[in-house]
Amino acid sequence: MDYKAITEYAIHVCKQAGAIILEGYYSNDVTVDYKSRTNLVTNIDYESEKLIVESIKNTFPDHGIVAEEGSLKKSSSNYVWYVDPLDATNNFAHKIPHFCVTVALYSREIASTVAGVVYEPLRDECFYAWKGGGAYLNTKRIYVSQIQDIGISIIATGFPYKKDDPDVNNLKQFNNVLPHVQGIRRMGSAAIDLSYVACGRFDGYWEPMLYPWDVAAGALIVEEAGGMVTKYTGEAFDPEYPEICATNGLIHRQLLDCINA
Ligand code: IPD
Ligand code: CA
Ligand code: CA
Repeated sequence: MDYKAITEYAIHVCKQAGAIILEGYYSNDVTVDYKSRTNLVTNIDYESEKLIVESIKNTFPDHGIVAEEGSLKKSSSNYVWYVDPLDATNNFAHKIPHFCVTVALYSREIASTVAGVVYEPLRDECFYAWKGGGAYLNTKRIYVSQIQDIGISIIATGFPYKKDDPDVNNLKQFNNVLPHVQGIRRMGSAAIDLSYVACGRFDGYWEPMLYPWDVAAGALIVEEAGGMVTKYTGEAFDPEYPEICATNGLIHRQLLDCINA
């Protein structure tokens, strides 16, 4: 499998989906449904997913697909695509200009993501990586930051949809981390948060209760940019496991210690 070529394909399909998202953003007829009080979905999520899933089915008929808004293609193939057709739907539905589309190709055989793309259409910023090939923003190689002291770091996080459940709503960890860092950002897109760690805009990021479509691409981009991605225990990252800590590597232990304090 040519991971670079497949990444180029994924960039192409994300940019097509990005055009749908932008058109929706500038239109006044987006329809919003509530999966729950805090979890929205729009017609644009579905339109973007349809385009991506149909394209993957036509191009790689034997591959599996798992997409956030319900498209599922079971397959015994080594390869499965994770698709988040619109990450940060809440931002999008509120016209807050910070959202993206992200897709990743995962190999079951080597238990690793092999290609990942995060495309932010408003700024036309395309973050991508393939296994062993480095990480990129548009055409430039990107690298994680060199900050060694968590005290002068900018860290991103997010709050899961179950906001009223103190066991999972991330407030305990938020309180643990806040006193030890320069600043915390809650931008609303897990995939962009990870991409910003990869290019050094953020020094670290943590979040619970995520899904493979949120994080598979971004985690590979961080790793290929020289960063570190693990569970809160420090064990190897697994996109199926619902918590993630990603940093420049240099502050990883410090951030894990704060989260787990
Ligand atoms: C959400 C975003 C957000 C994160 C949530 C995700 P969605 O994805 O990535 O940053 O905090 O946990 O569910 O629902 O907008 O695709
Ligand atoms: Ca998402
Ligand atoms: Ca989504």
